This record gives sequence, C-alpha cells and structure tokens, in this order.
Amino acid sequence: MGGIPIYGVSSLLFILLTLSITSTALPTPSAAQINSNSVLVALLDSHYTELAELVEKALLLHTLEQAVGNHNLTIFAPRNEALERRLDPEFKRFLLEPRNLHSLQTLLMAHILPSRVGSPDWPQPSDPSRRHRTLSSSHHLHLSTKPTGQKTVDSAEIVRPDDVTRPDGVIHGIERLLIPQSVQEDFNRRRNLRSISAVIPEGAPEVDPRTHRLKKPAAAAVPVGAPPVLPIYDALAPGPSLAPAPAPGPGGPHHHFDGHSQVKDFIHTLLHYGGYNEMADILVNLTSLATEMGRLVSEGYVLTVLAPNDEAMAKLTTDQLSEPGAPEQIIYYHIIPEYQTEESMYNAVRRFGKVKYDTLRLPHKVTAQEADGSVKFGAGDVSAYLFDPDIYTDGRISVQGIDGILFPESEAGEPLRKPASPVKVVTKPRRGN
Ligand SMILES: *[C@@H]1O[C@H](CO)[C@@H](O)[C@H](O)[C@H]1NC(C)=O
Ligand SMILES: *[C@@H]1O[C@H](CO)[C@@H](O)[C@H](O)[C@H]1NC(C)=O
Repeated sequence: MGGIPIYGVSSLLFILLTLSITSTALPTPSAAQINSNSVLVALLDSHYTELAELVEKALLLHTLEQAVGNHNLTIFAPRNEALERRLDPEFKRFLLEPRNLHSLQTLLMAHILPSRVGSPDWPQPSDPSRRHRTLSSSHHLHLSTKPTGQKTVDSAEIVRPDDVTRPDGVIHGIERLLIPQSVQEDFNRRRNLRSISAVIPEGAPEVDPRTHRLKKPAAAAVPVGAPPVLPIYDALAPGPSLAPAPAPGPGGPHHHFDGHSQVKDFIHTLLHYGGYNEMADILVNLTSLATEMGRLVSEGYVLTVLAPNDEAMAKLTTDQLSEPGAPEQIIYYHIIPEYQTEESMYNAVRRFGKVKYDTLRLPHKVTAQEADGSVKFGAGDVSAYLFDPDIYTDGRISVQGIDGILFPESEAGEPLRKPASPVKVVTKPRRGN
C-alpha cells in the first residue's frame, strides 16, 4: 500500500475522493491510503450504482476508507431497483434533504459490518438469528437462514451472496434497503408533524361502536407529547359485561395521531414480511383487535407486539381459538404496553438477567431473559425466542417476531388454556430442555 494507485481506481472514486476531502474540510486530507483492490473501490465501480451514489451524497468516503484500513467490511448492497422504484419517493426525498444528512449516513453505515461475513458464515436454518454490530454504532443487523435455505439480513433477502469479494471485504446483494429504526422514526416524526398540522379539529361527538354510547369529550388539554393521562388498562375496550365510559384522549386536536393507519401499516408490513399471516388474520378477521390497537395508538399509547410466527400459530388447536374471547386473551398476553425494540429488550436482559414486562392481559406479566445471544420469553416449556427482530417499529408500535406462543405461567392463578383433547402442547421443538 502507500502512494495513490490511480490506475485501476475508477475515475468516479477519484472524483469522490476529491469531493469528500473538499466538502468535509478534514484537518488532514490523508485519505489516500486505499488499495485499488479494495472492496470500497469495487463498490463504487460495481453495478450497485444507486448505492454508490448515496455513499457519495452522504460524504462518507473518508470514514469508509479509514474503516477498510482497519478491518474487513461486509457490505449489504440493495440492488438498484430497490432504491429506484421500490422506495417510497417521499422517504427518498427525506434522505436527500441536506438537513437529514445524518439520517442518510446512519442508514448507509447500518448496511456495513466491520468484519468479514461470507455466505458460509451464515447461521443454519435451525439456529436463532445472529446479531452483528454495524458501522452505525447504535444499529445491529441480524443474519438468519429461512427453512427454505434463503439467507436473510433483517427483513431483506440476500439475492446475490458473495457478489463481490476482495481481500478486505465482501459485498452481498440484497433485495431491498434496510431502514434502521432511528431513521424510520426521524422520517415518521417529520411525516406526523405534517399530518398533525393538516388535521382539522372535529367537534362532532363520537359514538363508541362497541357500547353505542356517546364518547365523552376529550379531557382538558394535556401538554403536547405528554403520555396519556390514564393507565392503558383504563383505556382498553371494556369486556361485554362491564362498560365504563371510554377513556378520554390524551390531549386536544393537536395531539392527534392516526393510530388506525399505523396499525394498518404494521399489518401490511407483517403480511409483506411473510410467515406472520395467521397473526395478521387474528388481528383483522378473527377479532377486532386491530381496530382496538389503532384506537389506543391514536390516544397516545404505545405498544409492543410479540407476534408468533405461522409455525407457532399452527400449533394452536381450533379448540384453543374457538372459546369465546380466547383469541383476544391469547393476543393480549402478547402485547406489552411499552415501546420496546429488540435493542432495548436485549440490553435490558443482558443487564438485569430477567425482566418482567406488563402485558395487556392484566395482571399477567411476561418474563424475558437472555438465551443464545437472543431474547427468550416465557418460562419452562412455554417459551419463545425473539426470532425476527424489529419487523415493524415506528416509534409507537413495535412488532417483534417470536417462534412460539406464550401463556401465563400456571402459578399465576389461571389455568393454561389447553383443550382436553387432542393436546398439542406449545413448546419449542428445537431448544426444549
Ligand atoms: C481481512 O480478511 C482476510 C481474509 O479473511 C484476512 O486475511 C485479512 O487479514 C483481513 N484484514 C484485516 C485488516 O483484518
Ligand atoms: C381476512 O380474510 C379475508 C377473506 O378470507 C382474506 O382475504 C384476508 O387476507 C384476511 N386478512 C388477513 C390480514 O389475513
């Protein structure tokens, strides 16, 4: 190394080097220690031209040159189509606005691991997903392999594994852009601000569709952004026998969130993600929980859904689902009235060993602990691993995919909802003890 190997380096890189030096006003423009055989040069020269262009716009070359000097890189490169046509144009505009440079940088750095992970290094289909730090220090990526053998990184499929390999790194082509939670939240905040200001206060009294009574008018103004005044349990739709007045909303018209469209959005995401159709079906078709969740979110509550995947759902018997109120009870036990992400739960269990989260199925809590580098919920033979992290996170609703169905522990005073026959006990086949 040493010197500037101009030949072999694309003119694009040369222009970019110049750009990155001039536009970031670095103290020492010594960013020339790059080998023409580097994975970074290969990226800029590759068919991932849209990504290369974003890297340029994000003024990240200097940082990446330093990174590749210190360690191998694994770059997850969305194919051009993912950035051209399949990206929400509004989101793309957001990324390219100069004031959102930090979001763009975070997004790109979250596609790069500071280590070499070739396709043989992926977890087996039976392994839990493996978590990797990225160059964006607060974001992790999760590698896993589906039962079909399809390798994935977070929610994206690897479509061209080991597409480019160089002595200092590897590029895998992926099917779509990975959007880190903080970037999604920045974008949502921007979008919500716009939609809030577009909402016209509506004075008409609202009828509660469940009780057919008038809803009480909203309580006097609560500061914008303050949490709802009542605990979430008071805001939950009442059961058929007791029907207190619905809880007032947390604030005036300026504190309006369209929880229903957020719930629709997350259910759409679940369906698109694949493997969670049963859960989506229960929320939408078998119960009115989707509507209920939308209402809660509109009123300012936040929710974390532990969504059992289809494989787990398939172990529920029709008896378990057909008892009146049973699907609601099962799902309520999978909803935590807090906003938790994989990151926050993983950090909590690492720090405290065992953590108990409230659920909407009062008074039952769900236990979480660290296991196999992941988060495990429940206890004994009724447990589930966090299998597909952060399927959906928008700052109010978080959806975490799990590979089992959870029931309150029997000591908690309520018998497990298990039918007399034929019993298919919900357990983890792979990791049972
Ligand atoms: C990058 O990976 C290669 C192959 O595994 C290894 O030989 C090399 O030392 C690594 N480079 C750095 C800087 O770690
Ligand atoms: C609800 O049921 C309809 C009709 O069976 C089906 O087409 C739709 O996909 C279901 N919705 C969900 C979210 O599963």
